[in-house]
Amino acid sequence: MKTLFFSAKPYDRDFFTRQNQNHNFQLEFIDEPLNHHTAVLAQGYDAVCIFVNDSADAEVLDILAQQGVKLIALRSAGYNHVDLSKAKELGIKVVRVPAYSPYSVAEHTIALILTINRKTHRAYNRVREGNFALNGLMGFDLKGKTVGLIGLGKIGIATAKILLGFGCRVLGFDVEKSEEVEKLGVEYAGLDELYAQSDIVSLHCPLTPQTYHIIHTDSIGKMKKGVMLINTSRGALVDTQAVIQALKSGQIKYLGIDVYEEEADLFFEDLSDKVIQDDVFMRLLSFNNVLITGHQAFFTEDAMLEISKVTLSNISSFIKGGELENEVH
Ligand SMILES: NC(=O)c1ccc[n+]([C@@H]2O[C@H](COP(=O)([O-])OP(=O)(O)OC[C@H]3O[C@@H](n4cnc5c(N)ncnc54)[C@H](O)[C@@H]3O)[C@@H](O)[C@H]2O)c1
Repeated sequence: MKTLFFSAKPYDRDFFTRQNQNHNFQLEFIDEPLNHHTAVLAQGYDAVCIFVNDSADAEVLDILAQQGVKLIALRSAGYNHVDLSKAKELGIKVVRVPAYSPYSVAEHTIALILTINRKTHRAYNRVREGNFALNGLMGFDLKGKTVGLIGLGKIGIATAKILLGFGCRVLGFDVEKSEEVEKLGVEYAGLDELYAQSDIVSLHCPLTPQTYHIIHTDSIGKMKKGVMLINTSRGALVDTQAVIQALKSGQIKYLGIDVYEEEADLFFEDLSDKVIQDDVFMRLLSFNNVLITGHQAFFTEDAMLEISKVTLSNISSFIKGGELENEVH
């Protein structure tokens, strides 16, 4: 099975090459992202393996099909970057890694909350420069605060468990209710109630047409003044311009994000020698109460091991034929 890995970083090569000792597939790795310019590179490959900022839209899928590609193996859980109906029309199967480690993302969510609250990122720099002043570093106790989680799937539940351990009250909104969530002690709430009562709002739902810009001027206006907003899910859940206005007015007092609407042009690359052209992103960076990480929430050894294992086992199942456990429909 000849598989071409797009957007392959050294850590992808490392984990997948090691894992491939159990399979012996023919794997090739290239740095280029998948898009309508690079899709022709898949000529002669049976499968392509792609990540979150690769694009598999209708045009790209047409080109991939012409090159003979029959399988797209996502090394991610999210699949909002694939036109699934077009893939179906072309007879290309799409498989993903549905649950590699919800803990990796949940724990990073907590890292963002704790850092932006207690300002350890600023304290680290101050202390290194011999500045031991505490002005500007005051935070708040998490115990007793209300956290609203939008999306209570695997990552939302893992996040809720940690927050309950801190002694937070956890409110949750999801389009589907589950007994497991209620048993944990999470209280289901409508979105308006969640916005009105939460000191921290954290996003854990997928990006779909229904959730696109779920955080916009109106929803932000329904939140408590001085709210903390956390997004480790997908950038386009948040209307960035609306958030910038709310940061300026003080409606949002803390912002922690691991994902950004236009991240495909920025994240996963070393741009430290370049002039960044995205003025909206640069405005976000200018706030001292905003913490941004570059889509690293998933990035633990445990998660990478699971991603490489499940992706190669997905390819193996495709070769064997029959039903594909992790197919995305
Ligand atoms: N930053 C990262 O590195 C990273 C890594 C993995 C996943 N993610 C993101 O996290 C998201 C959640 O992952 P998961 O594994 O928990 O997925 P999941 O499928 O287990 O859970 C998603 C939950 O969202 C709910 N949902 C769907 N539409 C909704 C809506 N309109 N409003 C509220 N809830 C809605 C679903 O019912 C489900 O319970 C993924 O879709 C992905 O975008 C980010």
